[in-house]
Amino acid sequence: DWTMAAFRGEAIAAIRRQVGDGRVLCGLSGGVDSAVAAVLIHEAIGERLTCVFVDHGLLRQGEAEEVVRLFRDHYNIPLHHVEAEELFLGALEGVDDPEVKRKTIGRLFIETFEAEAKKIAQDGRGAPQFLAQGTLYPDVIESVSFTGGPSVTIKSHHNVGGLPERMNMRLVEPLRELFKDEVRALGRELGLPEAFVGRHPFPGPGLAIRCPGLITREKLAILRKADAVYLDEIRKAGLYDEIWQAFAALLPVRSVGVMGDGRTYDYVVALRAVTSSDGMTADFYPFDMSFLGRAATRIINEVKGVNRVVYDVTSKPPGTIEWE
Ligand code: XMP
Repeated sequence: DWTMAAFRGEAIAAIRRQVGDGRVLCGLSGGVDSAVAAVLIHEAIGERLTCVFVDHGLLRQGEAEEVVRLFRDHYNIPLHHVEAEELFLGALEGVDDPEVKRKTIGRLFIETFEAEAKKIAQDGRGAPQFLAQGTLYPDVIESVSFTGGPSVTIKSHHNVGGLPERMNMRLVEPLRELFKDEVRALGRELGLPEAFVGRHPFPGPGLAIRCPGLITREKLAILRKADAVYLDEIRKAGLYDEIWQAFAALLPVRSVGVMGDGRTYDYVVALRAVTSSDGMTADFYPFDMSFLGRAATRIINEVKGVNRVVYDVTSKPPGTIEWE
């Protein structure tokens, strides 16, 4: 009989076997997967775990604060908060290709982790030999091939694919065999707060892949505001837990509008919401028209730079959940 309590025990034993008396650096993304991985590893090896949260400037409104608060206040796990906005946004300047965005971000994550490993070693107890990630089973599959299709890469999820040869850290991925619902069950088993366990997934490359085309600070600021208003409406309507993932994307298109007696020429925001059980297939969420109207009105009234809102009614397949 396979239970989460049993998985927890086995996973802890496996981490101890792999890590021995070594140290682990765990990258936190703000999502539930890396949080569960971190708490599990902390149970296995205690203070030999150090968490690193990289703020790459592609997070949602309030996200960095929430993650840091959870880990600092709730757990006694050492946490390095790295401000790396300049580094990431600088490297993404002029990049519009989705795969180049992912590869650039993945490379910078690794470089940032390596630099942090050196800092961790300054306490005299040696540098971490292991890098932990909250990779799930669907991440592994989707980076390799598409369900039932030919073996082509749809998206190279940045947290999969191993580490560069020259890097002398080995990967620890205790959730590699789990699906999302199982990770949530494990999170509950580990006592993570319900609000955190129930969070919608958020991709490692963050807002970079919700801003199709070139990424600018101006666009990111607009996107953050629109996304926050949309999620606020979803929570107020009591729909958050029914939805697998909901977010706004800022389209690289300007459209003409009219406001008061003036002409506007502003960005288009696309709203996305899907139901899914594992992210591998998904259906668009059938909101009431009144909900969509309310969300659109609020976004246009409250977010300067947006004059049009559209709702994405594509399921997966043929669409993917993210726009890039
Ligand atoms: P797609 O867009 O491929 O997304 O239908 C499936 C799930 O994966 C997330 N996603 C990513 N997660 N790195 C990540 O860590 C990535 O590059 C990436 N791309 C997509 C997406 O948010 C959804 O939950």
